[in-house]
Amino acid sequence: MTTNRMWGGRFGRGPAAIMEEINASIAFDQRLYAQDIAASKAHARMLAARQIIAKADAEAITAGLDRIKAEIDQGTFTFSRSLEDIHMNVEARLKELIGEPAGRLHTARSRNDQVATDLRLWVRDEIDALDQALKGFQVALVNQARTHADTIMPGFTHLQTAQPITFGHHMLAYVEMAARDRARFAAARVRTNESPLGAAALAGTSFPIDRQQTAKELGFAGPMRNSLDAVSARDFALEFLGAAAICATHLSRLAEEIVLWCSPGFKFVRLSDAFTTGSSIMPQKRNPDAAELVRAKSARVTGALMTLLGVMKGLPLTYAKDMQEDKEAVFDAADNLALSLAAMTGMVEDLQPDEVAMRRAAGEGFSTATDLADWLVRALKKPFREAHHVTGRIVAMAEARGCRLEELSLKELQSVEPGITGDALSVLSLDASVASRSSFGGTAPQNVKAQVEYWQEQLK
Ligand code: ARG
Repeated sequence: MTTNRMWGGRFGRGPAAIMEEINASIAFDQRLYAQDIAASKAHARMLAARQIIAKADAEAITAGLDRIKAEIDQGTFTFSRSLEDIHMNVEARLKELIGEPAGRLHTARSRNDQVATDLRLWVRDEIDALDQALKGFQVALVNQARTHADTIMPGFTHLQTAQPITFGHHMLAYVEMAARDRARFAAARVRTNESPLGAAALAGTSFPIDRQQTAKELGFAGPMRNSLDAVSARDFALEFLGAAAICATHLSRLAEEIVLWCSPGFKFVRLSDAFTTGSSIMPQKRNPDAAELVRAKSARVTGALMTLLGVMKGLPLTYAKDMQEDKEAVFDAADNLALSLAAMTGMVEDLQPDEVAMRRAAGEGFSTATDLADWLVRALKKPFREAHHVTGRIVAMAEARGCRLEELSLKELQSVEPGITGDALSVLSLDASVASRSSFGGTAPQNVKAQVEYWQEQLK
């Protein structure tokens, strides 16, 4: 066994095979190669600007790094597990390419500030990509809301028919959630976008480095103020995972609704063949697998948050190898959230509400009972509690007769409350009910149309 060439100085022999296996991160942290190389180039240029290394060496280093980037881009780079991680794989290749100057790159830095820098850059890029994906998801929802601003469906509480609402209003509820998700990612981005580079192993460095310069070149807002914090902080990744877990949870709720809506018991929407699978044994089946998978994947994203919280809990400052476990959690959550968002956007674009079925369901379960109670309050000046009681008796009467509220005769209504007039019957229709809910934020089609306009403007 050969010793590791990066610290062979005091090591007589190399690691046990199992040590190498548990220690190596190259299998997953190779995803950081572009960030790692960008950070190394910035570092080399800064070292030259500060006359810590020769300008010619910095030029050889950056040219070599560009070549390595191209090799990895093209898939011709050979990653080696014995070199542990992306940082040492790149540096070893640099040595092969340019020789001695390669060894000067690691002046005034450590893998501890290096990996923290790389992961911050990676998370920052991912936040930007997810923001665009969330925006696309919002656009798809707003388009459905525009088409279905006055399409009636039942609104539920406890999954029991509550009051009629519009399908457009329901779509816009998810637009709001996605907006908050974007705001959470944006807030996480602010705290992610600070540079740990130059914190070195943990204590800073004796070389006259310029951390402002590297921070600026990498697009960071500035260098982190405390070197111990810089190498040991992973709360940026926790915030990212927190935002991701909440976002995935939102997607899982819509996914669950789509699963319910597609089932023959509801029949509220139809997904085209493009988003449906069949059964190998039951020819009649149309399964919403993508929605089911989005529902399930939210568990993975939440799991990633729990994993990293568990890794970080109780870790003494500063760096510990435990923190190498941050990456797979972050990558897996990001990948699965991106996939879920793409699938949900596709499904939202694809889904076709069944207006007849939704209207029929909206009329069941005495969904306009509240409208009658409100009428009693408005027209007869009854206290709401008494109006609620009267309406309850009327509902019981309709239930006993097996009819809808609007099918009761005026006489029947008056047998419960003599003050009721023909005017009350007009509030019992579904269209009158949703149109009346015009308070700010309510489901009335005119509100939905106004909100669609608001969001179209926001999403331009
Ligand atoms: N692969 C390591 C990680 O992901 C890089 C940092 C290693 N630092 C160290 N002191 N061993 O955390």
